[in-house]
Amino acid sequence: MAKKVLSGIQPSGSLTLGNYIGAIKNFVKLQQEHECFFMVVDLHAITVAQDPAALRENSQSVAALYLAAGIDPKISSVYMQSHVPQHAELGWILTTLTAMGELERMTQFKDKSSGKDSVGAGLFVYPSLMAADILVYNADLVPVGEDQKQHLELTRDLAGRFNHRFGDFFTVPDPYIPEVGARIMSLDDAGKKMSKSNPNPGSYIALLDPPDVIRKKISRATTDSGREVVYDPANKPEISNLMSIYAECSGLSLQQIADQYEGQMYGGFKKNLGEVLVATLEPLQQRYHEIRSSGMLEDILAEGAERARSVASQTLTEVKERMGFLPYR
Ligand code: TYM
Repeated sequence: MAKKVLSGIQPSGSLTLGNYIGAIKNFVKLQQEHECFFMVVDLHAITVAQDPAALRENSQSVAALYLAAGIDPKISSVYMQSHVPQHAELGWILTTLTAMGELERMTQFKDKSSGKDSVGAGLFVYPSLMAADILVYNADLVPVGEDQKQHLELTRDLAGRFNHRFGDFFTVPDPYIPEVGARIMSLDDAGKKMSKSNPNPGSYIALLDPPDVIRKKISRATTDSGREVVYDPANKPEISNLMSIYAECSGLSLQQIADQYEGQMYGGFKKNLGEVLVATLEPLQQRYHEIRSSGMLEDILAEGAERARSVASQTLTEVKERMGFLPYR
C-alpha cells in the first residue's frame, strides 16, 4: 500500500556523496510507490549562523540537486520548509511536549555545541522542529542516514506522547535507513562521517565536484595497511568505506566487488572507483546546470509548497482543536 514519505536536507553548504547515498538515492527510489514530500529545510539551517546570500544560493542548489538526481516534481512535492508555516507552528507545540533532558541527550546537539562559547537555543530545540516536519504530514516512512536515527526516535516518542494525552492522531513514523551506505565515512578518516562541514574538502566528495577533482580525491583517500580489497569494517574501515561507495554507485554487491578485485592492489580499485563516481555524478551535474539555467525552479517550489500546505494546515487545525485552542474564522 502506498505510504506517506517525508524527508529533508539542510541548505548549509555543498551536498556530499554521503547525502546522496544515505538519503537522496532512496528518495528517488521511494517516489515510485509512495506519496512523497521532499523539503529543503532552511529553518533548520539557520540554527547556525547563515550568510543571507549563501542561504539563498544553497537553497536553490539543494532543490535543483533533488531534481537533477531524479526526483520528479510531478509525483513528489519538492519545496522549501519555510514556505509551509505549519512546520514552525507545530514545532513550537511539540517543543512544549519535549523534555530538556531528551534534547540534552541528542548526539547531534552535543557534537555541534561542543567547544562553543555561545550556543543558540534553536540548535537545542532543532529535534522538535524536525519531529513537526514529519508529523505534520502523518508520514509513515522517513528515509535518512544513520546519523538521524536518534532524532527519529524522539519523533516517535513525541507522536506517542501527543496521542496518549490528546487521543490517537499522529502516525508513529518508521525510519528508512539503507543497509549499505547509511553512514558514508570521511575519505581522510573512516572514524568520522563524511560531512559538508568538514574544513578539509579532501575529506568529502561534493556532488558538484568536477570530474578531475573527484578522481584526485579518491586517489588520495586514506587506505588501510595491507593490500587486499575486502569488506571488513572493524579491521579495514577505510577500504570498507570505499567499497560501500563503490557498491552504492555501481549497483554491484560488496561480494561482487571483492571477487572482482581479488588478488589486486588498492591502486586499480581506487582508479576504477573514481570512474564509477564520475559516471554517476557527471550526468547529474549536467542536469543540475540545465535546471539552474531553465528558471523552472520557482514554479516547482511554489507548486510543491501549495500541496504541502494543504495537508499540513488540516493537521494543525485538528491538533489545535484537540489541545483546546479556540478556533478562528
Ligand atoms: P542533513 O542535512 O545533515 O543531511 C541530509 C541527509 O543526508 C544524510 N547524511 C548521510 N548519510 C550517509 N552518510 C553520510 N556521511 C551522511 N551525511 C548526511 C542524513 O542522515 C540525512 O538523511 N536533521 C536533518 C534534516 C531534516 C530532516 C527533517 C530529515 C530536517 N527535518 C525531517 C528527515 C525528516 C539533517 O540535518 O540532515
